[in-house]
Amino acid sequence: MLILYGLLFLSTSVISIPAENTTPQVSLTLYYETLCPFCQNFFSNELAPTFLDKDYGPLFKYLNLVPFGVAEVMNSTAHKIVCQHDEVECQGNRFHSCAIKHIKDKKALVNYISCLMDSVEVDSEEDEEYPVDKCLDKVPDGLFPKIMKCYNSEEGWKLLEEYGKMTKKFFNDGEEFVPYVSFNNEKNDDLAMEAIEDLKKIMSRLTGKQYSSSSEEEYD
Ligand SMILES: *[C@@H]1O[C@H](CO)[C@@H](O)[C@H](O)[C@H]1NC(C)=O
Repeated sequence: MLILYGLLFLSTSVISIPAENTTPQVSLTLYYETLCPFCQNFFSNELAPTFLDKDYGPLFKYLNLVPFGVAEVMNSTAHKIVCQHDEVECQGNRFHSCAIKHIKDKKALVNYISCLMDSVEVDSEEDEEYPVDKCLDKVPDGLFPKIMKCYNSEEGWKLLEEYGKMTKKFFNDGEEFVPYVSFNNEKNDDLAMEAIEDLKKIMSRLTGKQYSSSSEEEYD
């Protein structure tokens, strides 16, 4: 069995040697929170148009979304988490955590979250609930009940706390700011800030792709 496995491994590794003209790819992790205006702006005006672009999309090795932001878990058993933009933002972060879990098609996910980020008012903080009924036409068929079930149960809290741990680990208990764009899991504040201004430019720089700011989105 071991030998067989070895042979299989050998043959797949031979096959997967990249062709000469393979485009280098980058992994992107976005640390964000649902109600910060810069996060909303970045997601809808930079990340989504880049990820869904027919030329830039293939440059992503993977895309990781981490919706926790500048928040603190005060008491895990009591589900007490304090978010920068109050309770409604914690709800939003939890809701996004569930959407990320249940929408496996990354393009559909980005399209949906972009719509949410674009349509939730910045000043909707006080005494309101995160508007989970927005952008329903962007949710793939049959998945909304699963997202809601997650959101209204322990599953949502667990996912959110996982994202909290990832966020704390990444910032290593240092100063946190969002949106934060990390390439290939590295922490580079200058690059993160440049990427927020013009993601396509940085993706071009990291992959050697010729920069073009106006190409087409393929997904709708
Ligand atoms: C956390 O919340 C639980 C449940 O409400 C409570 O029993 C516990 O004392 C709290 N822990 C702290 C450290 O406040």
